[in-house]
Amino acid sequence: MYRFALVSMFVALVAAVAQAQQPGAKPPDHMQHRFDDPAKFAKSFDDPKRDAWQMPDRVIAALKLAPNAAVADIGAGTGYFSMRLARAVPKGTVYAVDIEPNMISHLKTRAATEKRTNVTPVLASAESPNLTQPVDVILIVDTYHHIGSRKAYFQALRSKLKPGGRIAIVDFRKDAPEGPPAEFRFTPEQIKNEMAEAGYTVDSEHDFLPRQVFLIFKV
Ligand SMILES: C[S@@+](CC[C@H](N)C(=O)[O-])C[C@H]1O[C@@H](n2cnc3c(N)ncnc32)[C@H](O)[C@@H]1O
Repeated sequence: MYRFALVSMFVALVAAVAQAQQPGAKPPDHMQHRFDDPAKFAKSFDDPKRDAWQMPDRVIAALKLAPNAAVADIGAGTGYFSMRLARAVPKGTVYAVDIEPNMISHLKTRAATEKRTNVTPVLASAESPNLTQPVDVILIVDTYHHIGSRKAYFQALRSKLKPGGRIAIVDFRKDAPEGPPAEFRFTPEQIKNEMAEAGYTVDSEHDFLPRQVFLIFKV
């Protein structure tokens, strides 16, 4: 009996290794990671030390938002950018979009506590941000590499942009001292090529962020 269990375990192990190494198996096109503990992630996402390299005010200034603009922050996380965007569009709306229900609860509480009445948290799916209205600007910070099937995702997102609308992507550089594993860090050219396939052209390119690529696209 004991020998049978050992043999079964060995066979299962060999099968698992063979499956993981299957030649021709496509590598994943995005990084899967859960962000279901807002209190834990707030320690790094909202660490005041982040401001030095994240430069949120400069990023938001580069978006050239009208005071009444509608903005979607896709992958809003704990609201680091959403709350600041809310100040930049006092007569507009910020849709703080995230795939994690716990982040949506956190964003609701944070918006109420900080009296950001123009922040609307929206629960997304992996395939869609579930925006009900087109917006002027979509900001995606450190989340591009978490989105799968990006061509289809961004093609569909075009219908959620108002005429003249733009998508801003900020994500980790290859040489950043922190960030996702190397295979989920993209060069500006990789992002531009993917976005071109989805029907976008470059609106502007910014190189002031020391750790991240920052590109703005239009249709
Ligand atoms: C690394 S965090 C970045 C948070 C925030 N943008 C910031 O800069 O502090 C990525 C966030 O994107 C969310 N996310 C991952 N995939 C997503 C998707 N397909 N749609 C919307 N949000 C997503 C995660 O739940 C997480 O909160």
